[in-house]
Amino acid sequence: MNPYTAQTHILRMRPEAPMPELLALAGAVVRAGGLVAFPTETVYGLGANALDETAVSHIFSAKERPANDPVIVHIADMGQLPLISDAIPPIAHELAARFWPGPLTLIVPKSPAIPLNVTAGRDTVAVRWPSHTVARALIEAAGVPIAAPSANRFSRPSPTSAAHVAEDLDGRVDIILDAGPVTIGLESTILDLTAPQPRVLRPGGVPVEALRDLLPDVQFTPLYLAESAASAPAPGTLLKHYAPRATVWVYEGPPDAVCQAIRAALPNAPAPVGLLLLDADVGRFEDTTAEIVALGRNIDEMARALFGGLRELDARGVRTIFVPAPERAGLGLAVWDRLARAAEGRVVRVPLMAATRD
Ligand code: TXA
Ligand code: MG
Repeated sequence: MNPYTAQTHILRMRPEAPMPELLALAGAVVRAGGLVAFPTETVYGLGANALDETAVSHIFSAKERPANDPVIVHIADMGQLPLISDAIPPIAHELAARFWPGPLTLIVPKSPAIPLNVTAGRDTVAVRWPSHTVARALIEAAGVPIAAPSANRFSRPSPTSAAHVAEDLDGRVDIILDAGPVTIGLESTILDLTAPQPRVLRPGGVPVEALRDLLPDVQFTPLYLAESAASAPAPGTLLKHYAPRATVWVYEGPPDAVCQAIRAALPNAPAPVGLLLLDADVGRFEDTTAEIVALGRNIDEMARALFGGLRELDARGVRTIFVPAPERAGLGLAVWDRLARAAEGRVVRVPLMAATRD
């Protein structure tokens, strides 16, 4: 059900030269209770006035997102933080000084000013100061903090371009600010500062290793894998979250062995089959009939191209997707996480092959 319908206007601007008149217009739409999709350095967000419960409810209907999945509040300077949280732990200030503006989301106690649907009834709130010039300018123009999940329909890969947003949300959002493709391509790292020990709920744009400068013991445990499924998952760590329409298989291990194992699996997989590969591996599969999307030369390029690649293979109508996983380090951990979730846990360890399901 989507009671919020709108005529969608796409406003283009260059990230290095945001256009004040267009931003003033988009800011006024946010203030008036409308929905504005906007670029951040991670992915595009679907924004509404974070202080307006009705406006926020339209985010959920436009995305078809379940009401129990809370959204992140975006701010444009530290001055807005006390409005979001009235009990900011000292470590939050240290983390903010190091990583904001940027791809780090902090979970902190919620202030009464934040409507309950933003936090899905929780007494904690997710907050982030994005670094993208257009995101910052929009929040400033709106004059209010902006609640925004990723601007995709629920369960679709997150949007890394305005075209992806339009694909999912045309007619469901008032304005899409199009400033071209994003730079990181994966969502922010989410760090819960309200647990007894700070913990990473979602690896993202800030590598977990970088957080360890300030939080030496901080960990990310993928609760959705059987090996660690002891406790109930945090919101948004649902396994099936980035699922494309095809069935995804992720292969993890030494690169040569992984490519061999994927080649061996190709003939038995429901066709058509798609492959998401680093450029260097494309040559190993050119003699097969698989649809290939090359993701770039390194982990940064792979992160940027990943969600678009999943969408592209869906558009080409493949039924199965194979992907060699990157090493679970740095940005690779975030890429691995999105792949494992797109694959709904179908992670094959090579050479411990034999169709192991994690
Ligand atoms: O990079 C990003 O984080 C992007 C851009 C637009 O900022 N946003 C984004 O939002 O990825 P979304 O809604 O797709 O993912 C936010 C995640 C959700 O999984 C949600 O469950 C979690 O943050 N979250 C929000 N508030 C929370 C809270 N109070 N406690 C625990 N998790 C929370
Ligand atoms: Mg999302």
